[in-house]
Amino acid sequence: MNQEQAKQQLEALREEINQYNEEYHVLDQPSVSDSFYDQKMNELIQLEEEFPELLTADSPSQRVGGKPLDKFVKVNHRVPMLSLGNAFDSQDLRDFDRRIRERVGDDFRYVCELKIDGLAVSLRYENGEFVQGATRGDGKTGEDITQNLKTVRNIPLRIAENNAIEVRGEVFMPQKSFLALNEAREKNGEEKFANPRNAAAGSVRQLDPKIAAKRNLDIFLYSVGEWEAATTSSHSERLSYLEKLGFKTNKEARTFDTMEEVIAYTEDWTLKRANLDYEIDGIVIKVDSIELQEELGFTAKSPRWAIAYKFPAEEAITKVKEIELSIGRTGAVTPTAILEPVQVAGTTVQRASLHNEDLIVEKDIRINDTVVIKKAGDIIPEVVRVITEERTGDEQVFRMPENCPECNSELAKIDGEVAWRCINPNCPAQLKEGLIHFVSRNAMNIDGLGEKVIEQLFDHELIHTIADLYKLDKDRLLTMERMGEKSASNLLQAIDTSKENSLERLLFGLGIRFVGNKAADTLAQAFKHMDDLKNASEEEIKSIDEIGEKMASSIASYFAKPQVEELIAELKELGLNMAYLGEVFEADTDSQFYDKTIVLTGRLDEMSRNDAKKQIEALGGKVTGSVSKNTDLLIAGADAGSKLEKAESLNIEVWNEQQMIEALKA
Ligand code: IVH
Repeated sequence: MNQEQAKQQLEALREEINQYNEEYHVLDQPSVSDSFYDQKMNELIQLEEEFPELLTADSPSQRVGGKPLDKFVKVNHRVPMLSLGNAFDSQDLRDFDRRIRERVGDDFRYVCELKIDGLAVSLRYENGEFVQGATRGDGKTGEDITQNLKTVRNIPLRIAENNAIEVRGEVFMPQKSFLALNEAREKNGEEKFANPRNAAAGSVRQLDPKIAAKRNLDIFLYSVGEWEAATTSSHSERLSYLEKLGFKTNKEARTFDTMEEVIAYTEDWTLKRANLDYEIDGIVIKVDSIELQEELGFTAKSPRWAIAYKFPAEEAITKVKEIELSIGRTGAVTPTAILEPVQVAGTTVQRASLHNEDLIVEKDIRINDTVVIKKAGDIIPEVVRVITEERTGDEQVFRMPENCPECNSELAKIDGEVAWRCINPNCPAQLKEGLIHFVSRNAMNIDGLGEKVIEQLFDHELIHTIADLYKLDKDRLLTMERMGEKSASNLLQAIDTSKENSLERLLFGLGIRFVGNKAADTLAQAFKHMDDLKNASEEEIKSIDEIGEKMASSIASYFAKPQVEELIAELKELGLNMAYLGEVFEADTDSQFYDKTIVLTGRLDEMSRNDAKKQIEALGGKVTGSVSKNTDLLIAGADAGSKLEKAESLNIEVWNEQQMIEALKA
């Protein structure tokens, strides 16, 4: 067979298989048997192996899962993926309705959708081709899970929309697949997933896409993120357009003119949800008109034009076996009820935070009490009340100890706060919690460094302070159990990368009292450099918009401490960035990469592909996976193949690695 014949045959095979896929997955009406389908797929794969230059990214063969990855690459969401405010009853919904009418009047309608209990993902298409799939992450930065999402049959690899478009939706595992998966896992002696949501999340976060390919994931699309040429003026039109493009949307969405109709819809689904083949945890209510959505805008956390109604929490009865105390990073002592394990809303609950001593007293919760628990918002378990009729006389009243259970120094109550605190700044429990906070996602975001590893490092006395993290070396890491060469290198690499973080992450990570995520952003933007904030007076700090008196005083007294002075100096010495980087990113319009669409191909010798991508993006360039007429520049490393050919045929500028490095330095 010559190349031309192979090309024709490949096209025919792909079209045929795509049709079977659609019949099976979208229309639910397969016309051929599974074995016939497999045979066609094998033919396709074989032919593509014979003619690798004819392999295309949108070939249906790409769904069976390519090579495993080493780790996930981070993706910055150009339009943030926000979450929604919650409504727990019809009163909350009426309040939401009133707030909207006060702002925009009465001439609008709502769209109601089922709130799918899976995980939010973003799918990016360029020139009609699926180029990038990402998790939501913290809303600003997610992870690139393109390979895994390609295995989800209902995600089209090609669409008839040439403008760049980013579509968002919820990946989930249908009930049936979840049950089958758990059954198989049980047989193999593997741990079962607690619920379909966890199973779906676990599947898309597998580095080996062959695993995701077997997990039978599904997706409903429900919104559009970035869209080069938006053509619709209402959310419901967008849903129809998405459907027309071949995306799976949920058929139960309805539009209503009044909140009372919306409430009736939520009540209806509270009863009907048990009959669905997928889990939903509520109803999402959105203002339909895009213009009004824009007029209503956003609060710091979520849109004003949408809300999530959450179904009432499930309750269960169990016993309090013990009340345990833990010390947080600010020294606050938090009591937790250790419960007889019980199933609530799909997961086993064995702990519930009791928050503070006052709450225990108020609800009169005693050790050995029988209690009603519920999962607030279906996630966080809480003790609702004690069933006093069940008391037998064996119950014990809880008493707060006088000393810290971790370091034995005296506990104190400060300034009329409810919490008891350990006031020893060197209390190991506080230091450990402080480190867990420092590496966490919204702070320094160090991959592979979760609570467990911090605990291990701490217990091995490899770290005591934040600065110690940056002094770790491989030999010492390898002394820990379950730490191999590769994990140790990855960990050190991730710690090293975190040195480049912009100031706001470091500021938030330090754990200054009252300084949350948003305040850290504001401070970093206002002061631009750690030194300027450190040297600022309380008055100066207070003069910043949105920084209140309490916070300003907390910041000033934090930086006045000699040990903080020392810590900052040490971190600087260790090479941590102390500057705000946000504006550098926006202002660098002089860079040769600014606003350019760039493709990297072939082997780079002096830096990793990922580093090159990051540096280009930091200079305002956009790095995509495939060459098209919209590509401005191809960077071709050694042994570049079909992408180089394609770029040349499209007359796209091509650079080698050295040229790129020169331009990065410029
Ligand atoms: S709209 C700004 N629609 O619920 C608009 N979200 O708290 C945000 N979700 O992160 C999303 N079904 O993971 C929307 N039909 C639906 C949804 C839905 C499930 C999830 C999504 C989001 C969270 C919102």
